[in-house]
Amino acid sequence: MRYRTKVAATVRLPDRDERETALEAAGYNVFALDADDVYVDLLTDSGTGAMSDEQWAALLRGDEAYAGSSSFRRFEEAVADVTGFERVVPTHQGRGAENVLYGVLADEGDVVLNNTHFDTTRAHVANQGADPVDVPVPVARDPDADEPFKGNLSLDRARSVVDDVGADRIPAVVLTITNNSAAGQPVSVENAREVRAFADEIDAAFVIDACRFAENAHFVVEREDGYEGASVAEVAREQLGLADALVMSGKKDGLVNAGGFVAVRDPDLFERVKQRAILYEGFPTYGGMAGRDLEAMAVGLREAVEDAYVRTRVEQVRELADLLEDAGLPVYRPVGGHAVYVDAAATFPSIDAERFPGQALVCELYREGGVRAVELGSFAFPETDRPELVRLALPRRTYHREHLRHVADAAADVLDRRESVPGYRVVSEPSRPELRHFSAALEPV
Ligand code: F0G
Repeated sequence: MRYRTKVAATVRLPDRDERETALEAAGYNVFALDADDVYVDLLTDSGTGAMSDEQWAALLRGDEAYAGSSSFRRFEEAVADVTGFERVVPTHQGRGAENVLYGVLADEGDVVLNNTHFDTTRAHVANQGADPVDVPVPVARDPDADEPFKGNLSLDRARSVVDDVGADRIPAVVLTITNNSAAGQPVSVENAREVRAFADEIDAAFVIDACRFAENAHFVVEREDGYEGASVAEVAREQLGLADALVMSGKKDGLVNAGGFVAVRDPDLFERVKQRAILYEGFPTYGGMAGRDLEAMAVGLREAVEDAYVRTRVEQVRELADLLEDAGLPVYRPVGGHAVYVDAAATFPSIDAERFPGQALVCELYREGGVRAVELGSFAFPETDRPELVRLALPRRTYHREHLRHVADAAADVLDRRESVPGYRVVSEPSRPELRHFSAALEPV
C-alpha cells in the first residue's frame, strides 16, 4: 500500500429503484448519468485521478503571467527531464495537442498511419481531410494470445499501405502507447525503433501519442529483452526519444485533471506548432493551461515515472482483472495498463451485435452495483469492425481494494441472471455517427 488518504470524498450507492430510474432517465446511456448516482466510476482514467499532496502544494506556486511565466519554465524543464524534448507547447488537453500537431502535419488527401487511432486522433486527422489508417499487429484482435506487446504497429501492414498510396501521401506515422483502442496493450521499444527507421525510409514524421507512456515503460521493463532492471524513467526517455514529436494528454500519465502538450524536436516544426497553438490554445508559454495547472503537471510527470508508482498502478488494474475473471467474466489478456477490457460478445452469446452486448453489460453493471464502465464495440463504433469490448478504466490513486471487490461482486450477480439480460436499440442519435456513444439514447429490446 503506497498511499494513505488525506482528503476524503463521500460516495453513495443509490438503492436499486433509484438506479433503475437513473438509468432509464439517462436513456440507457451512462454518459448521461449524474456522477453522484455512480458508486464506482470506471468510465475513464482520464483526468479522474487523485493528485498528490506535492501537486496540490505546487498549485499555489502558479504564476499566471500571460507570457514567460516561471510556471512554464518549471513545466518545460519537467517535460525535458522526463521525455527528453526541449520544445514544448502546453494545450488544454490531449485533443488540443492533436488539433495543433495534425493541423500542421496533415493535409487534404494525406494518409496517417497509427497502431490504432484513438477516437479523437482519428477525428482530428479526418478533420484535415486526411485518411486515418490503423495498422495494428493482427494478434491485437486475439483476446487470449499470451504475447507481450500486442499494442505494436505492424510494419508489414504499414508497408502495404505505402505500396497502395505512395510514400508521398504519408506525412506521419503514429505510435499510441499504450494502445488504448487495442485493449491498452503496450508497444515495445524495438517496435518504436522499427517505426523510427520506417518513418525515415518514407520521409514521414514519427509521432508518439504518449498519454500512457509511463505505464508502457513499466511493461517494457517487465517484458522486453534487455530491459530487465531498467527504471521506468530510463525506458520512457529512450522510447520517447526515438520520436520527432509527442502529443500528450496530461490527464493520463501527467497525473492531472486537465492539461496536455505538444513536444517537437525540429525548430521549424516548433515555429509552425506555436503559430497554430496561438490560434486554438493560447500564447505558447501557457497554451491552454493556467499557470497553476502547469505546476501540477510538472510535478505529476515526475511522479508518473517513479517505479513504485507505476508498479502499484498496473498491479491494481491486474487485480481488478483477476477478480472479474474469478467472477466469471471473459477478460482480455494480458491485462492492459489502465483498464480491464471484457469480451461482451462472449459474456452474452445470445445478444447479437445489432443489439449491443457491450451496452447490455454496461447497463447491468450499473443496475447491479452502481458501477459505470464504457462500451467500445458496435454501439461506440458503428461503422468499423471492432470486437464487442467493455472497458473498466481505473482512475489513478483513487479506489481501494473494497471498491474492486464491489465491482467483481456486481459482475458475478449479473452473470447469475445472464439469460434474462436484454439487448438494446438506439432510439435517438447525433448526426456524426462516430460520436454517437456520448449522446445517443437507447431502449431495451
Ligand atoms: N489519445 C489517446 C490514446 C487517448 O486515450 C485520449 C483520451 C486522447 C488521445 C485524447 O486526450 O481526452 O485529453 O483530449 N482518452 C480518454 C479515454 C478520453 O477515456 O480513453 P484528451
